[in-house]
Amino acid sequence: MHTLSRFLWYLIHATLARVSAQESLTLNTLYSFSEASLSSDPTFSLPQAQQLTVSVAICSTGTTSPAFFVNNNTASTTDIFEIQLYSGFGNWTGTTQQGGSLVVQNVGQTSFQVVASTGALVHELIPALPFLGDTTNTQALIYSPPFSPIESSPPTYPNYTLPPANLSIPSPPSSPPAFSLVIAPTSSGLASGMQTACSINSTFSSGLVVSNDLWLRNNDGWRSQWLIDDLTPSTNYTAYVIQDQVKLSGPIYFTTKSPSFPCPLVHSLPFCPSTSYSVPLPFPQSPASSYDSSNLPQSISDPLLQYMTNFTTMLLTFACGRDLYSPLQTCESCQEAYRAWLCSVSFPRCAEPPSSSSSPSSPMPALTTPRSGSNPRNPFLPNVSYSYQTVLPCLEVCSAADRACPTFLGMKCPTTRFNAASSYGVGFIDEKQGVLGGGSTGTAQDRWGNVWCNPS
Ligand SMILES: *[C@@H]1O[C@H](CO)[C@@H](O)[C@H](O)[C@H]1NC(C)=O
Ligand SMILES: *[C@@H]1O[C@H](CO)[C@@H](O)[C@H](O)[C@H]1NC(C)=O
Ligand SMILES: *[C@@H]1O[C@H](CO)[C@@H](O)[C@H](O)[C@H]1NC(C)=O
Ligand SMILES: *[C@@H]1O[C@H](CO)[C@@H](O)[C@H](O)[C@H]1NC(C)=O
Ligand SMILES: *[C@@H]1O[C@H](CO)[C@@H](O)[C@H](O)[C@H]1NC(C)=O
Ligand SMILES: *[C@@H]1O[C@H](CO)[C@@H](O)[C@H](O)[C@H]1NC(C)=O
Ligand SMILES: *[C@@H]1O[C@H](CO)[C@@H](O)[C@H](O)[C@H]1NC(C)=O
Ligand SMILES: *[C@@H]1O[C@H](CO)[C@@H](O)[C@H](O)[C@H]1NC(C)=O
Repeated sequence: MHTLSRFLWYLIHATLARVSAQESLTLNTLYSFSEASLSSDPTFSLPQAQQLTVSVAICSTGTTSPAFFVNNNTASTTDIFEIQLYSGFGNWTGTTQQGGSLVVQNVGQTSFQVVASTGALVHELIPALPFLGDTTNTQALIYSPPFSPIESSPPTYPNYTLPPANLSIPSPPSSPPAFSLVIAPTSSGLASGMQTACSINSTFSSGLVVSNDLWLRNNDGWRSQWLIDDLTPSTNYTAYVIQDQVKLSGPIYFTTKSPSFPCPLVHSLPFCPSTSYSVPLPFPQSPASSYDSSNLPQSISDPLLQYMTNFTTMLLTFACGRDLYSPLQTCESCQEAYRAWLCSVSFPRCAEPPSSSSSPSSPMPALTTPRSGSNPRNPFLPNVSYSYQTVLPCLEVCSAADRACPTFLGMKCPTTRFNAASSYGVGFIDEKQGVLGGGSTGTAQDRWGNVWCNPS
């Protein structure tokens, strides 16, 4: 109430003075203001609109706490609304049929952004988080939240065709959102500051972007994919993704591996689209510092594609689309689940035990140390000269394929009673006796950088 009465007092004075130097805000345009560009209690005139959202975000503050007021009736002083700020951003939505104004009080040394929007250009902390592929000692593979989900029509009988073993990735959407990635050591306290895109963007981002492209990990949609290098080993990092300059996603946390971590990253494989983690392979030939479909040895991809092709041929001996083997599953969902399983067992995922100081209540991940020399899961992987540990695939990846496929294909997952835990991570997502979602963590990995079993 105090601020409002002060505001009214201000408004009367302002009205009397009839300030001429009002800056007009153009519709759907992002404005950034800093101390230097502002008068002491700046007023902006708002465009006319049936429904207008006035969205503000604080980029940095001095010693004052600014307050933002919208007046959408220039003829009266009663239609005044204060924009409440949460974590540094806020909005007002209403009618400005006769225009209106935005008044900022106590602006001090604040710099801020403002938009008068009739669309999606509104400051927001979006609930979907960035996704961590994996890290090495100096690299990280990070994805934006998904956009443009894939909705393909299912194949139908008698022309029931399934995707080829080497999936052809559709071309990405023509005007994707603009994404940027910000990474900072967790010790810099980024997550305790203002959670606005412009505030986070003013942080110096650690690491070097090796590549940034769009990738379709799964049907959730396209994601911006970053391969980052030059990070410091054994360091906790915080990461955010900024979308279209005003929307913030994050934070997520991750830890780089120890200096001697030997396994390179594998990603961007059309036939295993969600494989995006470190794999026990020799270090790739320079200048590459990771594997993708352009330098993954054919001795690995050929057998995998052959398994996938043979499986699909066998699956199609069933009258897919005419006969049903399940009320919920189709040959298409079976092939998809089999692919996820095949990729997760073909590409073991390197890992390190969590640092001893990590939360003691968190369960230990499903780590295993393969005997040196041959790889028991995939005989086609070259032998590596180093020793390493892996985190096992989640049992749920196998169960999903078992559930999705006709029984004649003989997909069989080990049971908890018969030693499943020697080849899979058991009891993390689902409960050990199979209760869906009842497991100890309920998830394969979390936003804090824990990975308990390999989800894909
Ligand atoms: C405006 O802010 C409120 C929270 O104060 C939020 O729930 C709402 O989604 C925001 N509106 C838009 C259009 O983002
Ligand atoms: C101002 O906005 C409020 C809330 O949307 C609305 O009820 C009121 O009619 C608007 N006033 C004018 C003059 O448009
Ligand atoms: C069968 O479906 C595929 C993919 O949907 C299509 O390319 C092809 O032309 C179809 N063939 C026939 C004979 O309808
Ligand atoms: C898979 O297909 C892509 C083209 O879509 C091609 O560049 C790549 O070489 C193929 N991969 C394999 C292992 O055949
Ligand atoms: C982030 O900062 C860079 C310059 O450092 C600027 O070009 C870019 O537009 C900013 N992005 C946002 C979302 O503010
Ligand atoms: C796939 O099928 C072909 C022909 O039936 C066979 O020669 C080959 O060994 C099979 N490959 C795998 C990996 O099962
Ligand atoms: C990283 O964070 C964890 C807690 O999440 C903490 O236990 C650990 O000591 C930190 N490691 C480093 C190297 O700062
Ligand atoms: C890896 O080494 C084992 C013996 O240590 C050998 O039997 C196997 O053939 C080797 N595999 C490859 C792909 O070289």
